[in-house]
Amino acid sequence: PAPGWVESTDVIVVGSGVAGLTAALHLREAGLHVTVVTKVSIDEGSTRWAQGGVAAVLDPADTPRMHASDTEIAGVGLCDPAAVRVLVEEGPTRLRELMRLGAEFDRHPDGSLMLTREGGHRADRIVHAGGDATGAEIQRALHEAVRRDPWIRLVEHALVLDLLRAPGDGPDGLGPACGVTLHVLGEGSEDGVGALLARAVVLATGGMGQIFAATTNPAVSTGDGVALAMRAGAAVTDVEFVQFHPTALIVPEQARVPGAGHAQQPLVSEALRGEGAHLVDADGKRFMLGQHELAELAPRDVVAKGIHRVLLATGAEHVHLDARHLGGTFLARRFPTIVASCRAIGVDPGEDLIPVAPAAHYASGGVRTDLHGRTSIPGLYACGEVACTGVHGANRLASNSLLEGLVFSRRIAEHIASGLPEQARPAETGAWRGGAGWVVPAATTPSLQRAMTRGAGVLRSSATLDATAAELVELGTGRGTPRTADWEATNLLTVAAALVTAAYARRETRGCHWREDFPTADERWRGHLVGAIGAHGRL
Ligand code: SIN
Repeated sequence: PAPGWVESTDVIVVGSGVAGLTAALHLREAGLHVTVVTKVSIDEGSTRWAQGGVAAVLDPADTPRMHASDTEIAGVGLCDPAAVRVLVEEGPTRLRELMRLGAEFDRHPDGSLMLTREGGHRADRIVHAGGDATGAEIQRALHEAVRRDPWIRLVEHALVLDLLRAPGDGPDGLGPACGVTLHVLGEGSEDGVGALLARAVVLATGGMGQIFAATTNPAVSTGDGVALAMRAGAAVTDVEFVQFHPTALIVPEQARVPGAGHAQQPLVSEALRGEGAHLVDADGKRFMLGQHELAELAPRDVVAKGIHRVLLATGAEHVHLDARHLGGTFLARRFPTIVASCRAIGVDPGEDLIPVAPAAHYASGGVRTDLHGRTSIPGLYACGEVACTGVHGANRLASNSLLEGLVFSRRIAEHIASGLPEQARPAETGAWRGGAGWVVPAATTPSLQRAMTRGAGVLRSSATLDATAAELVELGTGRGTPRTADWEATNLLTVAAALVTAAYARRETRGCHWREDFPTADERWRGHLVGAIGAHGRL
């Protein structure tokens, strides 16, 4: 049977964070009719949780070349220099456009922008808003601009299921993207599945942090875009490189924010270390001194590993961040979000040590794109965390993610506006008929998260990855029903399997991929693992 209903638009943007909304606004400037489809409500994605800021060269003492060099050092040999150049050279212009749209960043009394530093940056180049609420301000400004535009249609509470492709001459007999199937909440179960046809599709669905038991990502970060792209046959790459933020606040189970997603832990921004906070072990010793010339401000993978080593050696659940010397008044003004999260668990950062540990934070890999955001399927584009543009390599530099969303979404809009094909008719594939039918129950998700954290988290080995792979295979045998929570669980399992496969294959340690059994970087592995699910459903 065909989907229950069929509608059409010029361009579908899937996702409503910085990348999706920026793409939608630029596409509208080109006079196109845009439909933004988002899984929950417009502000539910990761963008509004971003604290630190946006990295951009705005200080005369800084240069794009220095920003590029810091980005490439963090990426440990796997960044694409052309993509990095685009990021650092176009970033400042995109940031100024965002300010013209209404985003307000923190300024000194003389009106100049306040710039701070985070891990891996050798210059002050992080712009922030509301102290540590940068993402929330960017989301607010973009949200208001989108709401002001009557020609951007917003469809909330709608989970996109599969990509529709026209018949073509690809290896699977398929051609360009020509729409998506989606389930709109409140429209029943299978009956609620409809099709939205379009002349181009932009994925901006964010990350996959919910595959782990502790993450800074919100509940919606279930890897939907990568899973969809894989099912459609698009190339994904670098999925083994999930970055663990060194300092997520350790919140006791009973104190977790209701509804915030059970795996989500509050972030304690690197900017706090940028302002001088220190990491200390149970004896009060600054264990990052001597491990890297930048100590607590080393790139994120180095600090996460430094903390993890302490946890392994001592059996402790967390280390501490000491910000007491910065003073309660300064902390409350500069870091209101962090202070509020700490107070909610009875910690006063002006007086007490802050309990922190690494948590899954950012997928550096994703759907492979070129410099225009094109994926390996014509008509399918990707930007933001779901994409792998090549700027992050094996480990993303702090505060380059909002920037990447701003820069590459604009490039996508330009490319789409330069020539859109006519609307094509979808081929009569399984996606058109309502999906391939493999759905696992939502109840498997906590087991999946525990298995991934145990065997495919900060530290991995052949043995731990083997054990996790076996657990994933077992979880894949469960039978779910066609509904949002089960489709999300299926996406989580799809991306978890891809990650474990890639992490197993990469027999070296590089960036945020840390193999206990192959503890050093190996020049022979200075390359990318690319995968897709082919027509036969194999990775
Ligand atoms: C942070 O504020 O530490 C996070 C910034 C980022 O992930 O880039």
